[in-house]
Amino acid sequence: MENKTTYEQLLINNKDWVTEKLAEDPSYFGRLSVGQNPPFLYIGCSDSRLPIDLFTGADPGKIFIHRNVANQVFLNDMNLLSVLEYAVKVLKVEHVIICGHYKCGGVEAAYSGTTMNIVENWTMNIRDIAMEYKKELDAIEDYQERLNRLSELNVIRQLRQLCKTSVMHAAFNEGAYPKLHGWVLDIAHGLINELPLPIDEWKEYGLLPAGYQS
Ligand code: CO
Repeated sequence: MENKTTYEQLLINNKDWVTEKLAEDPSYFGRLSVGQNPPFLYIGCSDSRLPIDLFTGADPGKIFIHRNVANQVFLNDMNLLSVLEYAVKVLKVEHVIICGHYKCGGVEAAYSGTTMNIVENWTMNIRDIAMEYKKELDAIEDYQERLNRLSELNVIRQLRQLCKTSVMHAAFNEGAYPKLHGWVLDIAHGLINELPLPIDEWKEYGLLPAGYQS
């Protein structure tokens, strides 16, 4: 099936897709409608090029998703916090993945200072990360490589933020918590880069329980 992208075609594609699915498996939507039990919470960028289900071959029902510009975690974001609380407390996801991507417009705009209006506020935290890691970033000659590194640093920072939420804090105290993962998707090659995380440092500062294992 060739997907076209006019508005009208979206609804035609939907009908075609349902027909195809039902031909393969008549009970597909019946099973899907029973409920969800996803093992993964995914927090990613809103960029249209990142349908994570497609990139990971995950079926509907497997990944609970929250997306915003440049995959930010703010401790006062009711949208993110309610998604996180539901995922951790009710769905009891086994893994939380924060996923950034190379060539992220939000990261680049924040770094170059070209954001405007509300997005400028939203991505200010990335500017702070860039200032904090100025020495490391300045040492990277290639501009795109430097932005790539900032995308990675941004993911790691947002995971650290996640550890500070009351939701995660409560889960850590109860001893039943999901594993945390930092990903950066390389759009140019389609591959996911799994980032090493400073787990020991986070434990030292009490952001993760001593018994946490990655
Ligand atoms: Co992005």
